[in-house]
Amino acid sequence: MSIQLADRTRHMTSSAIRDILKLTERPGVLSLAGGLPSPEGFPLAALRQASERVWQTQGAQAMQYANSEGLMPLREWMARRISRPGWAVSAEQVLVTTGSQQGLDLLGKVLLDPGSRLLVEQPTYLGALQAFSVYGPVLTPWPGDEQGLEQGPDPQALLDAAQPMPQAAYLVPSYQNPTGACLSEARRRALAHALKAGHTTLIEDNPYGELWYDAPPPDPIAVHAPHHTVYLGSLSKVLAPGLRLGFVVTPPDEAPGAQALRTRLLQAKQATDLHTPGFNQRLVLQLLQDGFDLDAHVSKVRQAYKAQRDAMAAALQRHLPEGCVWQVPQGGMFFWVQGPEGFDAAATLPAAVESGVAYVPGAAFYTEGHASKGRQMRLSFVTLSPDQLEEAVSRLAAHMKVALVQAS
Ligand SMILES: Cc1ncc(COP(=O)(O)O)c(C=O)c1O
Repeated sequence: MSIQLADRTRHMTSSAIRDILKLTERPGVLSLAGGLPSPEGFPLAALRQASERVWQTQGAQAMQYANSEGLMPLREWMARRISRPGWAVSAEQVLVTTGSQQGLDLLGKVLLDPGSRLLVEQPTYLGALQAFSVYGPVLTPWPGDEQGLEQGPDPQALLDAAQPMPQAAYLVPSYQNPTGACLSEARRRALAHALKAGHTTLIEDNPYGELWYDAPPPDPIAVHAPHHTVYLGSLSKVLAPGLRLGFVVTPPDEAPGAQALRTRLLQAKQATDLHTPGFNQRLVLQLLQDGFDLDAHVSKVRQAYKAQRDAMAAALQRHLPEGCVWQVPQGGMFFWVQGPEGFDAAATLPAAVESGVAYVPGAAFYTEGHASKGRQMRLSFVTLSPDQLEEAVSRLAAHMKVALVQAS
């Protein structure tokens, strides 16, 4: 008799990206595939010093069990950091999570039943699809404008009376993964308006909001519809992903259902891991207490990424074959490129890796068939240096030209 697995495991998928990352470990491959923040952006010396101080002054507490909500001073700091005019977040609204990825899983657990409609952009963050799918929702593509990096999902879909109301909707409004798109202020307001008129809870995932290169993004949608939005933040892209520190912001006390949501999220968190590692929480608190200037640090990371973004934009312009379509992202970590007619990004990936370059084929980010997805690729620009990006794109272009001749 083989081991009987739960029915829900049928909905589990492995991340195509992790599979591709294995391929890219081969020596000599320049990888545009991983969404890995540049290690040069990790403040290692400051983290090491803070870590020693944590050991010296609070070693035993750091090694002890902690509360499930997260350490109060860290929740207070997170609340202060995201609050802005019109959106005063209290520490009680903040749940510290083990990366924002855990926030996605916990929200799936408390918001979604098998068969619940969940609106998701096409394409969208693969890790969110993985997290939500386990709970058996009907992943419903969120119709919207296909063109441009600013248009995005249609607010009307939140009010479509012809369909059962979606239980929840998932969105990455600033510098989306994989497209790099950033929704305009007008679109955010329109979405907020529709959320208030309908009955859908928005899951607003914002790990990239601080990685802007030209001008800051508009305010989060939560600012305009705080009662209808659960907001996710992360320290992965501004400090280091290995800390596994993220947070969920629930609606304020007076929002209908906010208290119940908070209680259930906390119970779900307790069942999952009791709490996020106390050492990591204390480490960040100590770092801040030691006077580490996170804003200045993020500003340096932005400068480096902007130079990489510009190098990538120039290399794409210089090398890619005719018929490719892309836009220059205003923030985040990714270019989203559509190859010419006849290019099959997934089928030709092994040959691309052979020729020394890797990318993620676009199909990985969709829930279902899509006309042009076979031609799309996600290219990350934050892990390689400007010179390496030039070389990687030149290899990619050479590979595409060969693949196109073979396909014709
Ligand atoms: C859109 C999006 N949400 C969430 C995550 C998960 O981030 P974290 O490291 O905070 O778990 C990622 C990671 O790449 C992401 O791109």
